[in-house]
This record gives sequence, C-alpha cells and structure tokens, in this order.
Amino acid sequence: MLEMTIPPDTVSLGCYQRHFLARIDKRIVAYIEGFAADGISYRDNFAAFERLKLLPRMLKNLAGATTQINLLGRRLPSPVLIAPMAYHRLVHEAGELATARAAALTGHILTVSAQSSVLLEEIAEQGAALWFQLYPRRDIEESYDLMARATSHGYRALVITVDAPLSGLRNVEQRAGFVLPEGVSAVNLAGYGLEDIPVRRAGSPVFQGMLDGAADWDMLRRLIDRSSLPVLVKGILHEDDALCAVEAGAMGVIVSNHGGRILDGVPAPIDVLARIVRKIGDHVPVLLDGGIRRGTDIVKALALGARAVMLGRPVLHALAVGGVQGVAHMLTLLQTELEMAMALCGCATVDDVNHHLIWNENRDQG
Ligand SMILES: Cc1cc2nc3c(=O)[nH]c(=O)nc-3n(C[C@H](O)[C@H](O)[C@H](O)COP(=O)(O)O)c2cc1C
Repeated sequence: MLEMTIPPDTVSLGCYQRHFLARIDKRIVAYIEGFAADGISYRDNFAAFERLKLLPRMLKNLAGATTQINLLGRRLPSPVLIAPMAYHRLVHEAGELATARAAALTGHILTVSAQSSVLLEEIAEQGAALWFQLYPRRDIEESYDLMARATSHGYRALVITVDAPLSGLRNVEQRAGFVLPEGVSAVNLAGYGLEDIPVRRAGSPVFQGMLDGAADWDMLRRLIDRSSLPVLVKGILHEDDALCAVEAGAMGVIVSNHGGRILDGVPAPIDVLARIVRKIGDHVPVLLDGGIRRGTDIVKALALGARAVMLGRPVLHALAVGGVQGVAHMLTLLQTELEMAMALCGCATVDDVNHHLIWNENRDQG
C-alpha cells in the first residue's frame, strides 16, 4: 500500500482536517465535509460539546487505569469505533482496505458502509473487527442478501441506518458540482436493482414515489428478526424512537444526526443523549456520533450515558493525509487524549465517568 508521510505538525484531529482541506480536490471536500442545507446542525454538533463543561475530581487513585469497555458481550480496548462512511476510495487508492488495516493495528472496530468502495468480502480479509451498516433496501430480499454476506464473512454486528430515507439537501455538494469520480462506486450494491425512481412530472420529485417502499418499523422488525447478528439502529434522536427500536429487537441504539448531513435544524446528538439513556439505558447500550474531535468530547459523551462513540470525518481526513499510518496515528492521538482526559478528571475506568463530571451552572455548589 502507498507509503505516505504524515506532516510533523499533525498533533490533533483538527490538524488532519487542516491538511485534508489544503490537499484534497474541492469537490471531494464538499462531499466529505459537506452538510445538509445551511449546516446549522453540523456546526451545533461541535458547539454543543463546547457548551458542556467538565468538573474534574482530584487525587483519585488511578493505578491500573484502563479505557476498556464491554460492548455486545465483548471486551474492547477503547470506547471509540469507526462510523460507517461511504466511498473511502475518494481519498485513498486502497480505500476501506487501508482503513481496515489501521483499525486492525489499533484494535478499533470498523463499521463498513454498504456503500463502501471496496467489496465487504475483501475488507474482511484485513484482520480488523468489523460491523456492517446498511440502509434498508426497498426489496427486503436484497437487504437479507447483504446481511447474509456480512454474516458469512465474520462481521460481528449489523448497523441499520434509519435517518436517511432521502439523502438530504446537499447544497454544498451541488454548488461544488460533486459527482463520484471514475472507478469509485458502491461495489457491494452492483448486483442489486436500482433504487432510483423515475420522475414523471415536472416539479419536486420527492413525493413522486421516491419514498414508496421506504423502510418503516415493520420492515425494521423483519430485518432484525432475520439477523443472526446483533443489530444496532443508527440515526435516532427521539427517545420514543429509541424505545421503538429496542422493542423491535435492537441490541443497541446509535444516537446520531448523520454528522449534520441529512435534516438540518435537528439537535446535536450530545444534547438528546441523556433523555434517550434515561428512557432505555438499562436495556441496551447507547452509542453516539457527531462532532467527536477530542478526548474530552468522549468523556462528555460517556458521562451523559453513552457506552461508546463513533468517529466519522476525522477517519477520512487521516486516510487522505497519511493512509494506513495516518488513520492509526489519528486513532492513537485520540486514545491518548481520552486517557489524559480520564486521568485529569480522576477516572480510572469508564465506569467512573458519570454525570457527576458534568458541570451544572444551576447546581447549588454550596
Ligand atoms: C463522507 C461521509 C459518508 C457517510 N456515509 C455514511 C453511510 O454510508 N452510512 C451511514 O450510516 N452514515 C454515513 N455517514 C455518517 C457517519 O456514519 C456519522 O454519523 C457522522 O459522520 C458522524 O459525525 P462526524 O463526521 O462529525 O464524526 C457518512 C458521513 C460522511 C462524512
């Protein structure tokens, strides 16, 4: 695989983003960095973390400290997973193969998107622990087929994304004129039917059948019933939907606004997390993504009840800038930040990270 040099001033996830923005074709930047409509939710994903403050405790015994977690019956070294993202080959020739190698090197789970630009079967050969994400297909047999392919290739869990029956108002991409370059495509889906519905009348195409056959709770239940792998439902913001997902048989819920890429004007996941955990927290693990860029962000998410977090765009930034080494380095930087943040908060384990760490201005500090 291509050797790439990581610029020496790359000391945080933000540095990877800076180098990515400077190096990569503007149309591809528009797709990866892009958000829905005006980016209100995209920006709020970061602002919401900035609004939250930590109230650390001193002089705790930190001997034997660890970031290990239990998730779906397995012990994982870190509460950070790689979020599903389409088309890694947009930024690196080896695409998801390189990301998987970095995940294997650092012990992180990679969630492979159904829209990956490398076959899910080939990604499975890189030795990483994998989850597989799919958008429910109109033809449920196609979803079943994808699930069977992932299951038979050793994927450990399925993520069903429910917040994107449409791909969102991608004005940033439209302005930049983004189209998939030659040679990059959703190769896993090549054998299935086209999901595009022909537009018959002038005017808005959205209600001209685009949503006919889109997933509903009944379809989700059928997919979960069919799966021999644990299923997590991704893209939940309302606590009642979280409960519906659990009642449908989900083994986990991923609180997410898709990195601000689908519906603009929705709250940041970190702002709705505690409500969701209150509603379902004891039953299944709750994960969160959107705006995680620092170790302190992870601590804030864990403190508000997340079992783990997922990391999106920074993985593609690092892949673009440094290939396998870049992603491994970026994940290691974040792991170091997490350990520092836990240590400075007085937490030896993730169980010590709880809501008492969140500063509440209204609390009587007496
Ligand atoms: C370029 C790109 C492609 C994405 N593709 C998918 C996808 O195929 N499936 C999915 O469930 N989410 C997808 N997402 C959303 C991510 O899984 C995740 O929710 C989001 O990126 C988290 O926010 P962050 O980028 O601020 O970390 C994509 C995000 C980006 C940036």
